[in-house]
Amino acid sequence: MSKIRGLVFDAYGTLFDVYSIGRLAETMYPGSGATITSLWRDKQIEYSRLVTLSDPDVNGSGHYQPFWDLTLAALEYSLQKLGLQYGQQDLKRLMDQYAQLDAFPECKGVLQKLSEMGLPMVILSNGSPQMLQSAADHSGLTPYLDHLISVEQVRQFKTHPQAYALASKTLSIPTEELLFVSSNGWDVMGATWYGFKTCWINRAGLPFETVGPHPSFNGSDLSVVLRVLQSNANQPNSH
Ligand code: LAC
Repeated sequence: MSKIRGLVFDAYGTLFDVYSIGRLAETMYPGSGATITSLWRDKQIEYSRLVTLSDPDVNGSGHYQPFWDLTLAALEYSLQKLGLQYGQQDLKRLMDQYAQLDAFPECKGVLQKLSEMGLPMVILSNGSPQMLQSAADHSGLTPYLDHLISVEQVRQFKTHPQAYALASKTLSIPTEELLFVSSNGWDVMGATWYGFKTCWINRAGLPFETVGPHPSFNGSDLSVVLRVLQSNANQPNSH
């Protein structure tokens, strides 16, 4: 196995704690917070796949919309489906939460230790550039990240190969020497197929996807990446 020379993190659910959205939704719509957030997340990802899969042009999508816009569209759909009343202020309150997410409690400490190992660290996310910058700043993770890579550059969402290709292109490191870290099973699946070494952060204790190869590593929170890197450091420098 070749050595790991860089780290690529998914954003939402992996570094940024999206549970606060559920708490806010619950205060606004008592009894429906969990349903709203799960429907909202599923619809958001469904819309991202819809625009990318329907793309008639391999060099840039005619259907592409920024992730921020798709997230808003998915929120409106979810509230309508559940028969909940809303106005522009309600949408704004919930959307603003996306821009103000905290990191999961262990993330800052883990990224700090990882940064001492000297490997480049980036985010590769479906998120629009402004959403990513705002969440990274708010959560205090910006100092540890070399790049916040948004798929907006290629107008294709993950799991499209052009989206995953951005990591190697940005870092000038071959994909197979990068460790891709995500809490989303489907994202880990896509990244494994694309050729990354992968680490699944199984925060929710879920079974792994059953359609393809398993990730190279997995753990219940981000600290597993430290253990992976420590054993990587002890490996001979072979390719
Ligand atoms: C991302 C979402 C999909 O950050 O979690 O790309």
